[in-house]
Amino acid sequence: MPHELHQRLHQHVVTPFHTPGNLTSEFENDVTKRDENEAVMQVTETMRAVQHTQYGAPEVLSVREVKKPTPKDNEVLIRVRATSVSSTDAVMRKGDPFISRIVSGLTKPKRSTPGSELAGEIEAVGKDVSRFEKGDQVFGSTGIPLGAHAEYLCMPEDGAMAKKTAATTFEEAAACEGALTAFPFLRDHGHIQRGHKVLINGASGAVGTAAVQIAKYLGAEVTGVCSTENMELVRSLGADRVIDYTKDDFTGDGRTYDIIFDTPGKSSYSRCKGSLKTGGTYLSTVPTLAVALQMLWTSKIGNKRAAFVASGLRPADQKSQDLVLLGELIDKGAITPVIDKRYPLEQIAEAHRYVEAGKKGNVVIAL
Ligand SMILES: NC(=O)c1ccc[n+]([C@@H]2O[C@H](COP(=O)([O-])OP(=O)(O)OC[C@H]3O[C@@H](n4cnc5c(N)ncnc54)[C@H](OP(=O)(O)O)[C@@H]3O)[C@@H](O)[C@H]2O)c1
Repeated sequence: MPHELHQRLHQHVVTPFHTPGNLTSEFENDVTKRDENEAVMQVTETMRAVQHTQYGAPEVLSVREVKKPTPKDNEVLIRVRATSVSSTDAVMRKGDPFISRIVSGLTKPKRSTPGSELAGEIEAVGKDVSRFEKGDQVFGSTGIPLGAHAEYLCMPEDGAMAKKTAATTFEEAAACEGALTAFPFLRDHGHIQRGHKVLINGASGAVGTAAVQIAKYLGAEVTGVCSTENMELVRSLGADRVIDYTKDDFTGDGRTYDIIFDTPGKSSYSRCKGSLKTGGTYLSTVPTLAVALQMLWTSKIGNKRAAFVASGLRPADQKSQDLVLLGELIDKGAITPVIDKRYPLEQIAEAHRYVEAGKKGNVVIAL
């Protein structure tokens, strides 16, 4: 591995965004104005965007015509070409588990347009923008403001964004949530090293498929855990060994690991403790009370650790650095984003149903 790339993979690496606001109501106001004054009609530009005003089943999502955003002085306007529908998007749509509503709104979604990962082309820049220019192809993550399930989106130039090369497709670039999660978990909290034995539970999901490839790239010996039908996929990503969780329990076969990365949170620290080497770490993406207490406890006592990371809430500049790195790794063939299915924006509810039924890797919306 080139020295510079390796250093950055191991770097510990920081910005807020423009909240799109309630575009529908802004648009409705504009329509009223339009009735009153035809001149306004000539200047109001619209776009298609997914909207939801309540938590619930996929049917709460609809595609509506809303006001196209205009970039502020420090923002870029992106024409979105691809966006992804992740397990996290399904959680945010349902508002379940309830703890997720701390971020998304207690009784109803705070943001009417969902979606956070995207790839597209910069259509306009604000007057203070120097990092990007019109025509740049970019990919990134909006973080908490969401808004990526739309034809257009404004992001601040110091948002979680990187330029995309022609070698990576918009769809591959939009499937970046897995790597943006796996980098901080494995590198910053698992302290992964060449030769480490690493087990990825949920190796066929968005986070898992990225984690397997990143761990292999960093020289670990990787065991992937998934269901029977996805074993071949996980092997093809470079896993040295694959365990079918429908037949075998990895916590009962006597093998031990430096890192157990439980991507769907289907196991627990208590169950995995016996399968960790001395100094080993159990990593979970799911914020349970148990893992929070175990994090606290194991940071003070014992020689094994449990850790949960809210990787989606990392500062934008940390994410941007990882996006640049991810782009390089995709371009050089070290990581191939796994895309299971593609949908048009109008089939957003269907895409959510598919994601909830169990996907392989990523599901993308092509616009
Ligand atoms: N903490 C954070 O900041 C953060 C960031 C991103 C995502 N997340 C969370 O991470 C989780 C995973 O996301 P994802 O997008 O990777 O999900 P995903 O694509 O749906 O993948 C889920 C994976 O779990 C596997 N699985 C299901 N049941 C299992 C079991 N009993 N034992 C072992 N593996 C099992 C699936 O394998 P089969 O399909 O083969 O059954 C699949 O590989 C979600 O809960 C998401 O909300 C958290």
